[in-house]
Amino acid sequence: MAKLRAFSGIQPSGDLHLGNYLGAIRNWVLEQSERDNIYCVVDLHAITVPQDPEALHKRIRDLAKIYIACGLDPEAVTIFVQSHVAEHAQLAWLFNCLTPIGWLNRMTQFKEKTGDRRDQSSAGLFVYPALMAADILLYQADGVPVGEDQKQHVELTRDIAEKFNREYAPVFKVPQPWIKEDGARIMALDDPHKKMSKSGGPNNLIYLLDTPDVIVKRIKRAVTDTGTNVVFDPERAGLYNLLEIYLLLSPAGTTKEQIEQHFEGKGYGALKSELAELVVETLKPIQQKYNEISADPNYIEEILKRGADRIRPIAEKTYSEAKAAMGLG
Ligand code: TYM
Repeated sequence: MAKLRAFSGIQPSGDLHLGNYLGAIRNWVLEQSERDNIYCVVDLHAITVPQDPEALHKRIRDLAKIYIACGLDPEAVTIFVQSHVAEHAQLAWLFNCLTPIGWLNRMTQFKEKTGDRRDQSSAGLFVYPALMAADILLYQADGVPVGEDQKQHVELTRDIAEKFNREYAPVFKVPQPWIKEDGARIMALDDPHKKMSKSGGPNNLIYLLDTPDVIVKRIKRAVTDTGTNVVFDPERAGLYNLLEIYLLLSPAGTTKEQIEQHFEGKGYGALKSELAELVVETLKPIQQKYNEISADPNYIEEILKRGADRIRPIAEKTYSEAKAAMGLG
């Protein structure tokens, strides 16, 4: 039986943090042998807000290196840059014309990102979800492994696919959001009621390339409560978040009960220092691999070129079917 196809992407708009890793990349890596995988660096999405051109160019490569450093096998998985395949922007235009403004107005990420500065934000930021739909639908993906914050965008993608298929011709597969129960929403270390995010300030997150000292400091300072016993209690949001991270980084098969037993009679201090050690140990090989790959700049260029060349025919086929269905050309 053919493997199910996964498509996902991350914006090269800042350094990657533990939330990106636990909510997305880690799952891509764990399931790579079971699926047919396409992972994208979504640079066209990044320019929906202003970017410094030189820094962006570098961050695109750095992000692709992080994918590999985290364990994606570039021989088996397609890794490519969104703007290297022209059909993303082209199909997005068709979707801009198909998608009612009312659907885009409901997107909570747009509202959160723009706040009361909506009129100053780019038109691209508003139609961002139509570009994301194009990314996914071009490759007829079965599922989209993402964190919880992307669920609404994947649902919109489904709505766009269904509308197109109904109104023109059945060109697109309707994909599923693949969101895990654990790790889908890692919270900020300095405020466990907000999600960990690139825009949340330095104390809210741990970057994948942070040094051990910084990691230890951030975790020691993580906001918890005045309780003492270490149990998975969702009411104690700070503690719960630290325990979730601990669980996800523990060996496969470890249960919540085992972790609670392990910390019985020990306090939050013990959890924090053991968690810091676990994060440092998890990130160490990722950082080593990242440094190794960085020694040869041609390495990543070749992988990205090969990746785009490999999947471009799929994008071309889908786009030409969509164009024909709409009567274009
Ligand atoms: P981006 O770049 O904001 O985030 C990348 C991935 O990281 C996940 N994530 C989290 N998961 C758990 N806890 C958190 N605190 C956390 N913060 C971020 C996100 O859910 C995401 O999976 N619109 C997308 C990029 C995109 C895309 C696509 C994704 C463009 N086209 C097509 C999938 C398919 C975004 O901004 O992700």
